Amino acid sequence: PLGGVAFDLDGVLTDTARAHFRAWKRLADSLGIPFDEAANEALKGVDRMGSLALILGDRPGFDAERRGALAAGKNRWYLEEIDSFGPSDLFPGAREALESCRAAGLAVTLASASRNAPLLLRKLGIEAMFDIVVDPAAVANGKPAPDIFLAAAAAVGVAPPAMLGIEDSAAGVTAIHAADMAALGIGPPGSLPDADRLIPSIADFRLADYAGAA
Ligand code: BG6
Ligand code: MG
Repeated sequence: PLGGVAFDLDGVLTDTARAHFRAWKRLADSLGIPFDEAANEALKGVDRMGSLALILGDRPGFDAERRGALAAGKNRWYLEEIDSFGPSDLFPGAREALESCRAAGLAVTLASASRNAPLLLRKLGIEAMFDIVVDPAAVANGKPAPDIFLAAAAAVGVAPPAMLGIEDSAAGVTAIHAADMAALGIGPPGSLPDADRLIPSIADFRLADYAGAA
């Protein structure tokens, strides 16, 4: 039976996937590097420095110091994007999805790669709904490695096969499966082909649809 759920945040519970894209696009434009929404798909779920590495590719002249400055600049633009965020920026159905998991007695965990996740949870007014928020800085390897999902399961003492991971990114779905969990994808039809099940948005989440759910 299902014992816990590991939620991704950006693009699952709130529309920050757009905010991250706009901030990366601003950075790429400032460097004259082509970047569009198709290229952005590969960045979803990937941590800050990993995303920057994907944008820069093998272009020369970007040492660690310059990369650090670029990543910090992107984060300032991102923080501008979410400055006015509040509870109304939760996706429709996000609070209800979290509440239904809690009401069923499931462990509710957050497995987000974002260093900004605690801030965002406070802005959205949902920080109290999680039993544990994994600190991405404390795991060795980012998505698509399983580390953050394994850390979520371990923190609440639930065996990974009894966890459901919920993700909007291909890297995240790969990470969930690598952790030996079931993967619920959030996205339009045809996206995330590796997900065990795909729903268009968190508003379509019904706990009873998941095997063994309470
Ligand atoms: C993930 C997003 O949740 O967090 C990525 O999908 C983002 O787009 C990553 O790059 C890291 O976020 P942050 O806030 O630590 O820069
Ligand atoms: Mg995401």
